[in-house]
Amino acid sequence: MDMKKILITGAGGFIGSHLVEHCLRQGYEVRAFLHYNSKNNWGWLEGLKLNKKIEIVCGDVRDYDFVFNALKGCDSVFHLAALIGIPYSYLSPLAYVKTNIEGTYNILEASRQLKLQNVLVTSTSETYGTAQYIPINETHPMVGQSPYAASKIAADQLSLSYYLSFNLPVKIVRPFNTYGPRQSARAIIPTIIMQLIEGKKYITLGNMNPTRDFNYVEDTVNGFLEIAKSPKLLGEIVNIGSGKEISVNALIEIIASLMKMKVKIAADKKRFRPEKSEVMRLCCDNSKIKKNTHWKSSYSLEQGLLKTIDWVKRNIKFYKSDMYYV
Ligand SMILES: NC(=O)c1ccc[n+]([C@@H]2O[C@H](COP(=O)([O-])OP(=O)(O)OC[C@H]3O[C@@H](n4cnc5c(N)ncnc54)[C@H](O)[C@@H]3O)[C@@H](O)[C@H]2O)c1
Repeated sequence: MDMKKILITGAGGFIGSHLVEHCLRQGYEVRAFLHYNSKNNWGWLEGLKLNKKIEIVCGDVRDYDFVFNALKGCDSVFHLAALIGIPYSYLSPLAYVKTNIEGTYNILEASRQLKLQNVLVTSTSETYGTAQYIPINETHPMVGQSPYAASKIAADQLSLSYYLSFNLPVKIVRPFNTYGPRQSARAIIPTIIMQLIEGKKYITLGNMNPTRDFNYVEDTVNGFLEIAKSPKLLGEIVNIGSGKEISVNALIEIIASLMKMKVKIAADKKRFRPEKSEVMRLCCDNSKIKKNTHWKSSYSLEQGLLKTIDWVKRNIKFYKSDMYYV
């Protein structure tokens, strides 16, 4: 169970960049796996003050040879790299199969060959589909309502099979909706904040009835490390979420009042998901993580939103589009 040097995939992304900072703060060595690009852009790691315990490697999780070499010398891997947009998964399901399923296979198989001590695979609350009961515990059925969710269910199952078949020390981390600084402009919270900052007369969004369990990113990444450090939970799925459910409608009202703005909302039919694909309710049962680790949710929704609003205001230059997904 030794954990000293951790490979983090998706390290240049939203959650990955916060996880890199968190692991470095806790004294771990980190090898950050970034998606290769010809400008050598480090994504959200660009410009952060990082200490000397970080190494950067740039490649592609779809490339087994690269993954194998990137993992050499690490005892642990936190696998976050994925395609995450639900609308794009309607357009290109095969891209999700390749990145999310085959990418996870590459991590699992290379970890098996190299005898890694800790393998954390990132799942999502979308794997549950619309809640069949509330709150959702880890034994809730899985329903792939989008190709994205289906690709994550497949990756989770493959990971569990590596634990059952080869005794690979795998844990599945299943975060509910996460928000905070650096999240893509396509996500619901930055979309609302951005449209309010731009002073739009009407905020345009998709279906506003679905409910979600929103978590500030610091709480989510703390959950990753708590799960990794636990001597238990091998071969298990663990939810990370606040246990609080809120509709998109109510969320808009809270954000507008925190920004001291009045808001008018217009539904944009183009942003609606196909009816059977829309996940209507998600609310986390977090008793497993609380029982097995020292994790607790430290930020209220209001506290996390204020931090996020402040960050988006100061970094508006990064936000180019107002696409929508939850
Ligand atoms: N944001 C949320 O609310 C949320 C909720 C539950 C689960 N998750 C999961 O958390 C993880 C991180 O999501 P995020 O919100 O930070 O998204 P993100 O898009 O910011 O991060 C994903 C990262 O994966 C990288 N990536 C994509 N394809 C790659 C490839 N072929 N090779 C190497 N790298 C590649 C991207 O460059 C990006 O940095 C994902 O696995 C996602 O499914 C996110």
